[in-house]
Amino acid sequence: EKAGFEHFMMKEIHEQPKALQDTLNSVVRDGVIDLSEMGLSDEEIQGISQIYMVACGSAYHAAMSAQYVIEDLAKIPVRVELASEFRYRTLLLDKKGLVVLVSQSGETADTLAALREAKSMGIRTLAIVNVVGSSIAREADNVFYTLAGPEISVATTKAYSTQLLACDILAVQFAKVRGAIDEDRYKGLIAEMGTLPEKITRILQDKERLQWFASKQAAAHDVFFIGRGIDYAISLEGSLKMKEISYIHSEAYAAGELKHGTISLIEDGTLVIGILTQSDLYEKTVSNMVECKSRGAYLMGLTTYGHYNIEDTADFVTYIPKTDEHFAASLAVIPLQLIGYYVSVARGLDVDKPRNLAKSVTVE
Ligand code: M6R
Repeated sequence: EKAGFEHFMMKEIHEQPKALQDTLNSVVRDGVIDLSEMGLSDEEIQGISQIYMVACGSAYHAAMSAQYVIEDLAKIPVRVELASEFRYRTLLLDKKGLVVLVSQSGETADTLAALREAKSMGIRTLAIVNVVGSSIAREADNVFYTLAGPEISVATTKAYSTQLLACDILAVQFAKVRGAIDEDRYKGLIAEMGTLPEKITRILQDKERLQWFASKQAAAHDVFFIGRGIDYAISLEGSLKMKEISYIHSEAYAAGELKHGTISLIEDGTLVIGILTQSDLYEKTVSNMVECKSRGAYLMGLTTYGHYNIEDTADFVTYIPKTDEHFAASLAVIPLQLIGYYVSVARGLDVDKPRNLAKSVTVE
């Protein structure tokens, strides 16, 4: 049942190209996106004043990335919230807003409660869900199914990746319907999404190098993931993978925020992973990495082929194929999943069933 892999997590990491392809195939026809099965009309999309994205854990990280992509492409303001916070504050939701719930299981208690809260206020709800017929899928006004298939490993990989893709698809379609991008750009973005599965396959072919790197870092006490913009959203997910299956303390930081306190934690040999997929933020994050290095940090850089001058700064570099930078999270997360996995294996831990965690959190 693990298809020759030692753990479900590794099997599911390798299922990502197919999961993305299936999700794309379900909504892309003849090179254009068709969301008619979701039941959200063009007029409704045009009328959205504000998007509220609500989720927990990795689904929240997918939503964090979506915020940058939707705002930049579709020009709709997006607010991202943890479901456990959203439901307990004074909600001043815009009636013409759209509440987007993101959940693999469709059963996460806080996300379900947030959905009910939004519905009771008469706001339209759209769920991005993996499990067909789950509570969130049944109760939301509209559903976008991710087609990741069953995910067994507690640490999410392919479900998270399809959540990212679903958000990107919404961003591109909303952008088109609202006239924020022209036909050429629209078709170009859809074609680019179509290249992601093959690019992920290419990253997976290089996994032995990451295994080597992970074995060297398996005794680390603290790891910092830093990035800006979408790279910050990816940092959050990379850090969670490290924590949940490797039991190594790690933090994700918006790179520019380090010097406001956290940099005092950097000592000789502390691992700092800089994520650099966004060209306009590249130099800024590199300079934050240099600040860490001068305090003794051991630096890993995760960037796109072509950015070779990172080798002047980082001690270890991993490259991902070029893509439209809005979609970079889909590629950059792969090496981070692999590092989390290999560190966990090197430490002899229970990769698929980490301590204290359940696959689906149905308590509040
Ligand atoms: O089923 P959901 O997507 O609602 O689950 C949300 C989180 O519990 C989940 O993403 C969790 O953070 C993962 N185990 C992380 O790998």
